[in-house]
Amino acid sequence: RAALVLNGPNLNLLGTREPGVYGHATLADVEADCQAAGLELGLAVECRQTNLEGELVEWVQEVGRRQAEGELLGAVLNAGAYTHTSIALRDAVAGSGARVVELHISNVHRREEFRQHSYLSPVAAGVIVGLGVAGYPLALRALTLLAAQDLR
Ligand code: DQA
Repeated sequence: RAALVLNGPNLNLLGTREPGVYGHATLADVEADCQAAGLELGLAVECRQTNLEGELVEWVQEVGRRQAEGELLGAVLNAGAYTHTSIALRDAVAGSGARVVELHISNVHRREEFRQHSYLSPVAAGVIVGLGVAGYPLALRALTLLAAQDLR
């Protein structure tokens, strides 16, 4: 089976973007770590990044469809700042039935107040926060555990 790793706005800038907050790993590094985790877990991992909110909405809907067909376990989703703004993305998760592990590289709970609220957390299967880019392989592992228990 397979899983998607969806990265949202500005995550294409990983490595050079506020390295004190997000570290020095690039998106390519993160995606390579996800592929390695996929090999370990026996999971085909598909990684995508977009800066566009609507594209994330479409990808989440696709996850719901392909999950229903038994092809996908779900997705790891770092929605970046859309986490804190996007009712559309929340509705996509809730409406599609997609199994989503929400992920944040930084510990959003010890940052600015506007990062403390997530529209996604109430509809996510689980949340991984503040573990740096090491959170991605952990999130993939979590996704397989959740899927095995049919949790979402
Ligand atoms: C982020 C946290 C968000 O608040 C921020 O807008 C991002 C990245 C993280 O991975 O820590 O773009 O999702």
